[in-house]
Amino acid sequence: MTAEVIDGKLIAAETRNKVAAEVARLLKVHNVVPGLAVVLVGSNPASQVYVGSKKKMTVETGMRSFEHLLPETASEAELLSLIVKLNADPAVNGILVQLPLPPQIDAAKVISAIDPGKDVDGFHPLNAGRLATGLPALVPCTPLGCVILAKSVHKSLAGMDAVVVGRSNIVGKPLAALLIAESATVTVAHSKTNDLPAVCRRADVLFAAVGRPEMIRGDWIRLGATVIDVGINRVPGEGGKHRIVGDVHYAEAVERAGAITPVPGGVGPMTIACLLVNTVRAACVAHGLPAPAV
Ligand code: GUN
Repeated sequence: MTAEVIDGKLIAAETRNKVAAEVARLLKVHNVVPGLAVVLVGSNPASQVYVGSKKKMTVETGMRSFEHLLPETASEAELLSLIVKLNADPAVNGILVQLPLPPQIDAAKVISAIDPGKDVDGFHPLNAGRLATGLPALVPCTPLGCVILAKSVHKSLAGMDAVVVGRSNIVGKPLAALLIAESATVTVAHSKTNDLPAVCRRADVLFAAVGRPEMIRGDWIRLGATVIDVGINRVPGEGGKHRIVGDVHYAEAVERAGAITPVPGGVGPMTIACLLVNTVRAACVAHGLPAPAV
């Protein structure tokens, strides 16, 4: 059996088109233009690439992008005072502080300083708590993208066995909460899980978010299962170059799974698309408008 390849690029493009249509409607009907502020501290090369893509796609969907670049040496107080300004700026509907932050800055303190209504990453404890208790919330982008991809294969996840490998605040925990909200039966596995291969084999839908290259092997996957691979790992490739691989051993998994996301081109493109969704949603709430159709 060879798996159906889930086209994350295509689904992300469709999602961005829906966002663009909603942005156009907001301008026409309500004279509202959503704005996203992205804050980058230092010059981490991967972060620079992400921030560049976020800016480009924000502008392409018709929204305003505000970029704030702080030096690697910026103090926590400087960053916190920028957050205070962005919180108070009515043109800014979403605030994203790119992680990781340099060691002199406490990321948890910075995240807690963001207005929860502008927290388009969904990392603020208030949004995490709202998600966990089933209240409307801004939800972390990567988990949201994972659920959209799983639902591109299965109309409903109700009653399905979902296994999430990884328990981070950014992916594993919020993904588990979203899957519970979809009425899946959810197992969260991690580095201390006993007999991880056996736990993975239970999954109708397997989500890999461990950050370890090709850790999940083909024989860990139930025949016909759906596999959503969140991993983006740089490994040495041919000729001194590097290549990007997921947390799943793709060549093995594609022979077992019913459907699988590729890396790159699976979950990655969905993360930014979902950031744009969150920004439009935050703008609607800020203006007292009903939730948009994305
Ligand atoms: N760094 C890696 N992933 C993310 C993300 O989703 N949001 C932010 N702010 N930083 C990140």
